Amino acid sequence: MGWCGLDMRVRRPAVGMAAAAGVLAAALSVALVAGEPQDTPFPVETAKAERAMNQLQQALLAKLKTAMENGGPAAAVEVCRTEARTIADEVAGAQAIELGRTSHRLRNPANAPRPWARAVVDGSAGVKAAAERLRVVDLGDRVGVLRPIGTAEMCVRCHGPSADVRRNLGAALAAAYPQDRATEFAPGDLRGWMWAEVPKGAK
Ligand code: HEC
Repeated sequence: MGWCGLDMRVRRPAVGMAAAAGVLAAALSVALVAGEPQDTPFPVETAKAERAMNQLQQALLAKLKTAMENGGPAAAVEVCRTEARTIADEVAGAQAIELGRTSHRLRNPANAPRPWARAVVDGSAGVKAAAERLRVVDLGDRVGVLRPIGTAEMCVRCHGPSADVRRNLGAALAAAYPQDRATEFAPGDLRGWMWAEVPKGAK
């Protein structure tokens, strides 16, 4: 199963979405309706952003599965801490775009939203994931894309009631994230967003 919030969407088959990821996503209970790239004024750039988001999701998922199997949640926290950003940078670099995750309630302040994304991210605080959708923003020479991430049952062990999170993850989490605000999420809540910036005209 997935960790770090990258496999929580159920949606119609997207451009470039691998069948395996589709099956995984479909098996999860949080339903998010994302807009189709064709609905946006920048379909090519939006599809590129979504392909990269899917890649990030799958790469992180693979790492985390291994960590969970070998070392349990504490090891998975370590993967989230050290690898989530690296994997995002690798996927983004290969595509010549920018890519990351953000939230209105952050665990890692380094995941703060870009200025263009802030209004959407802050404006969605406290809503259910199902109420949100893909957002596409014209950034001049680039296209900004935001895709909602829901909270599933399994996320709660690291993002749910803080007493439970402390019990599950111990002191490691507090030590690594002294400013953690990413607890008290319940299944179905909007946990955050994947974001991408794609140069206009990129294929
Ligand atoms: C094993 C513990 C663990 C689990 C399970 C987990 N996360 Fe996380 N999550 C983390 C850690 C640690 C970070 C901080 C990563 C970093 O430093 O960038 C994080 C960061 C995030 C972020 C980036 C924004 C922020 O707060 O810094 C999102 C979004 C997120 N998680 C969503 C989810 C969702 C959705 C799930 C359920 C599929 C989930 N996570 C499951 C530990 C976990």
